[in-house]
Amino acid sequence: MKDQKKINIAIDGYSSCGKSTLAKALAASLQYVFIDSGAMYRGVTLYALESGLIVEGAIDKEGIIRSLPDIELRFGKLMEKGKEHPLLLNGKDVSAAIRSMQISQLVSPVSAIREVRHKLVEEQQELGRIGGVVMDGRDIGTVVFPDAELKLFLTASIDIRTERRFLELTTKGMKVTRAEVTQNLLERDHLDSTRAESPLKQADDAIVIDNSDLDQQQQLNLALSYVREIIHQLA
Ligand code: DC
Repeated sequence: MKDQKKINIAIDGYSSCGKSTLAKALAASLQYVFIDSGAMYRGVTLYALESGLIVEGAIDKEGIIRSLPDIELRFGKLMEKGKEHPLLLNGKDVSAAIRSMQISQLVSPVSAIREVRHKLVEEQQELGRIGGVVMDGRDIGTVVFPDAELKLFLTASIDIRTERRFLELTTKGMKVTRAEVTQNLLERDHLDSTRAESPLKQADDAIVIDNSDLDQQQQLNLALSYVREIIHQLA
């Protein structure tokens, strides 16, 4: 499919529904660029934490807004095929640091700040300007790429999502319990879908994939069948 028109693919859904896994696999298979928009919100949250703008869970919203011009987020060169581009925060690779449970617990309120969203949405739109991008997040099909040729909305049961995230974190050596993971996922789902600014919601023209009973290959095959259909219609 690589000589055909490059479309943009928006993947949205609740936390830990396998959005990044699918986005990464689609990008590798289509030779597209994968962009994890959540990593950017995590990057701003890490900056705020390291700069003393979040102390004992209290978020200095005005301080974060004032600091936005000092926060430069870039995706570095792909280190390994099928992996993600490392996230560089002011030139430093923070790909591992942004995955901590502490960042997961703080990122939803930071991502609800209007000015933070405006900055990141603008940068995300710029990254998708030339097409051939698979971007996952919460507002990609509704706000970032409302004209994306393919929009997918992923769902999975909370038990399956907990198990996947628990395994991901414990495999990386992090100490968490399943109960903490479930609580964090449900809290973020609630905050992400009830915030005033571009809340998580399914775009009207999105295709829903419930991947509770699909393995990664089945999910990829299904998504690729939608891609083929769309590229065929555009040809
Ligand atoms: O995809 P993730 O779990 O790494 O995202 C972390 C948080 O960032 C998520 O809880 C909500 C926020 N986010 C967002 O508000 N909009 C996006 N497009 C992506 C993520």
